[in-house]
Amino acid sequence: MPIVNRFAELAEEITGWRRDLHAFPELGYDTVRTAGIVAEKLRAFGCDEVVTGIGRTGVVGVIRGAAEGPVIGLRADMDALPILEKTGRDYASKTDGKMHACGHDGHTAMLLGAAKYLAETRNFAGTVVVIFQPAEEGGAGAKAMLDDGLFERFGVERIYGMHNWPGYPVGKFMVCTGALMASADRFTITVDGTDGHAARPHLASDPIVAGAAIVTAVQSIVGRNVDPLDAAVVSVTTFHAGTADNIIPRTATLTGTVRTLQPAVRDLVEERLGAVVAQVGAAYGVSAVLKYSRDYPVLMNPHDEAVFAGDVAAKVVGEANVDRDMVPTMGGEDFAFMLQARPGAFIFAGVGEDVANLHNENYDFNDDLIPFGCSYWTQLVESALPRAS
Ligand code: NI
Repeated sequence: MPIVNRFAELAEEITGWRRDLHAFPELGYDTVRTAGIVAEKLRAFGCDEVVTGIGRTGVVGVIRGAAEGPVIGLRADMDALPILEKTGRDYASKTDGKMHACGHDGHTAMLLGAAKYLAETRNFAGTVVVIFQPAEEGGAGAKAMLDDGLFERFGVERIYGMHNWPGYPVGKFMVCTGALMASADRFTITVDGTDGHAARPHLASDPIVAGAAIVTAVQSIVGRNVDPLDAAVVSVTTFHAGTADNIIPRTATLTGTVRTLQPAVRDLVEERLGAVVAQVGAAYGVSAVLKYSRDYPVLMNPHDEAVFAGDVAAKVVGEANVDRDMVPTMGGEDFAFMLQARPGAFIFAGVGEDVANLHNENYDFNDDLIPFGCSYWTQLVESALPRAS
């Protein structure tokens, strides 16, 4: 079964919603306008229940099928990024410095489209809970919704997510069993030395030289400690120190990110990072302290659910257009928290080979994906919650 015909009819309307959301991007938990529109539409579609304020600005809609059955959740994210948009589109962001550069506007619009169809047709045995979360981009909005009792309150038994993916044509879906996306952690290294005159370095303890040695030394963790057949990234991305060319400063502050595809590798990298930082600092006669923050876990698709998601995609676009062995990405996703709590699957949908990369100032969500994304959602529901024939 290809695209659901109803979505060919609705595509223009859903595109209108998407472009409106795009023009008014909101960051983190401040998705007030977006959440308001989502709630208003869910009510207009005739959802049986619409609840706002879960995980601060999250919205949930409940749609009961024509018959009794299990409860499944479908999740979209609503937040934008602090980027100055350069697409020049007529629907471009009206707020300088805020932009839907990850396509969450498209995710929200596609799940709204699916909700409209599901509320109209109700051709399933069970209940669908559509979940719109804030703060995916670093704020752990998924976790905030879970901490508010999301799954218990609505009885969600299985959970599904989807992300658009540039570089692949519309009409392709990609998924894999096991780790699909990396754990995403942050760290801060504070290097404390002794300040002094730059011409008399022997009387100071230089945090810049020590910090530079730390930047180099931590690369040995991936190179020498992690199994070469496992994946890990350690990136130092900021390094701040000093005020003048003739002063050795007292402090340097470094920050960065760690990505891994296995919990055990994550533990190893965190432990080695602490040891290397402290000991390189000691070798240079400064204090170097690591503060490590575990942000998003590894996103793991259980085998049966990855197969199911691939089967659903194949019903929409044909088996030849589904890659069931996608190579994982070292990007992070807070949907990982939802998959730690319930079985389910996360899938990628091609959004166009020429679409700029996610989080790029020229990224432009391709609305051609809308009928495919909506069809995936509704096909998933009718496959997971089939009516007795
Ligand atoms: Ni995203």
